[in-house]
Amino acid sequence: MKFFVDTADIDAIAELNETGMVDGVTTNPSLILKSGRDILEVTREICAMVDGPVSAEVVATEADAMISEGRKLAEIAENIAVKVPLTWAGLKTCKTLTSEGKMVNVTLCFSANQALLAAKAGATFISPFVGRLDDVNIDGMDLIGEIRTIYDNFNFQTEILVASIRTVNHVTQSALIGADVITAPPNVLKKLADHPLTENGLAAFMADWAKTGQKIL
Ligand code: E4P
Repeated sequence: MKFFVDTADIDAIAELNETGMVDGVTTNPSLILKSGRDILEVTREICAMVDGPVSAEVVATEADAMISEGRKLAEIAENIAVKVPLTWAGLKTCKTLTSEGKMVNVTLCFSANQALLAAKAGATFISPFVGRLDDVNIDGMDLIGEIRTIYDNFNFQTEILVASIRTVNHVTQSALIGADVITAPPNVLKKLADHPLTENGLAAFMADWAKTGQKIL
């Protein structure tokens, strides 16, 4: 399973990148706002830091304008995945841009039927938002299971990119279901390494090591 970082914060990406865990990056207009940076500039920097796909989102709502924006974003670097919303205009844009050989991430997916449409439009990635479904009392992970089944039934190659991840449990569940990719904010990715027994065990080892009076270096 691939790990994408859901942020436009260059420092956070650089820190996680050192672990070799970053297979890609996702951004959206809200994350660009949070970064306080110019979209073209910051996206170019991210693309230079990370080898894998970097999602940059269009903001037009009509297909023709979306296609033009997508082409402009795709010019930033080879590893751009143009992010389009799951609307008919977004699906048309997806079809056009993937036919041109560009990667497309169809975002704001909240149902299995929407995911089916994205796959039929040739999407490289489908981004179902699990956290936002949980927020309205619908189990987001159930949707991931449904999409996995549907894509496997018809051998669709579109990768399931689990988005709007809020907890480490979302990551575990995504892996168990067989999602292709998760995108999570840096704080959630960092929490994946945490376990109280690891902390306690390390503290005990350190205490015993100090009593030996030895040094390795
Ligand atoms: C991913 O592509 C989305 O931009 C992101 O995961 C949305 O997360 P949120 O629901 O926490 O804003």
